[in-house]
Amino acid sequence: MSAARRTRARGPIVLALPENARLASALARRLGVPRGGRVVRRFPDGETYVRVRTPVRGRDVVLVCTLDRPDERTLPALLLAATVRDLAARSVGLVAPYLAYLRQDARFAPGEGVTSTYFARLVSSAVDWVVTVDPHLHRHHTLDAVYAIPARALTAAPRIAAWIARHVERPLVLGPDAESAQWAEAVASARGLPRVILEKVRRGDRDVGISAPDLARWRGRTPVLVDDIISTARTMIATVRQLRRARLAPPVCIGVHAVFAAGAYDELCAAGVARVVTCNTIAHASNAIDVADVLATGVRQLLRAPRRRRG
Ligand code: R5P
Repeated sequence: MSAARRTRARGPIVLALPENARLASALARRLGVPRGGRVVRRFPDGETYVRVRTPVRGRDVVLVCTLDRPDERTLPALLLAATVRDLAARSVGLVAPYLAYLRQDARFAPGEGVTSTYFARLVSSAVDWVVTVDPHLHRHHTLDAVYAIPARALTAAPRIAAWIARHVERPLVLGPDAESAQWAEAVASARGLPRVILEKVRRGDRDVGISAPDLARWRGRTPVLVDDIISTARTMIATVRQLRRARLAPPVCIGVHAVFAAGAYDELCAAGVARVVTCNTIAHASNAIDVADVLATGVRQLLRAPRRRRG
C-alpha cells in the first residue's frame, strides 16, 4: 500500500445512521473523507443490531445522525458510538444537524424533568464532540451550559438570508415570538432587511396565540416568517392568520428544522402561505437550503482540536 493510501486509511471517516445517508455523503464530500460501511438494523424483538464494516482503529469517526424523532434515533446512535470506541477509534464525534431535547430547558411545573440537561449528559458520555445547526438555545445560552464535551453550534442564518435575497421581493422578516427573535434578527441583519418580532402565548402543545402590532404599514412587503423549529406548525399557522387579518400578502414560512409532527406540513401549506421552506438538517420535501458546508466547517474545527483523554 502506498504511503498516501495508508494515510487515507488512517484518516477520518464518516458513518451515517439510518436515513442520514444523503447528508452524510454531502458532508464527506465537503470534508474530502470517505464514508464508512456499517449495519444498523432492528432485531425482531425491537433491539438494535450494530456492526461497523470499515476499520476504525486509530481513526477519527464522524457519526451523522439528525435527531428528529429523538427517542427512536438516539439509542442506535449511542450504540454505534460505543461500538466505534470499542473498536479503538481515535475519537468519535456526532454531527446532529438537528439536536433534539433542548426545549425543556427549565422546570416549568413542579416535578418536571429538565430533560435538556439529562439528554446532554447522555450524549456527552458517549461521544467526544458534537456539531449542530441552530440548536434551540433559550434559557441555556450556550451548548456548553449543558454539554460536557466540545459542542459547536453553527448557524444557517446567512444561508437563509441568501435564499430570501434570491427568491423574495421586498421581504419583511417576522419572528413569531421572542424565542424566534435570535433567528429572525440574524437573518434580517445579514441583508439589512426590516424585521418585526411578534408575541406568542402557548397554552398547550397545539394551542398557540399570536399577538401582532399594527402591521398595516407593511402591506407592500412579502412577509417571511423565520423560526428555528416547525413542529406542530401551530406557531406558524397562528401567525399566518394574524397576517391575513392585517391583509398582508401570503407569507413565505422558513424553518431551520423541518420537525413537522404528523399532518403539520399539510396543515401549514393549507393555511394560506406562499411557500414553506426549510434547511436540510432533517430530510423533508420542503428542504431548499443546504447546510452541508456549514456542518463541514464545524467538523473541520473539531477534527483539528486536540483530543481529550477519556477516563
Ligand atoms: C419555540 O419557541 C420554537 O422557537 C418554535 O416556535 C416552536 O418550537 C414551534 O413549535 P410548533 O411548530 O409546535 O408551534
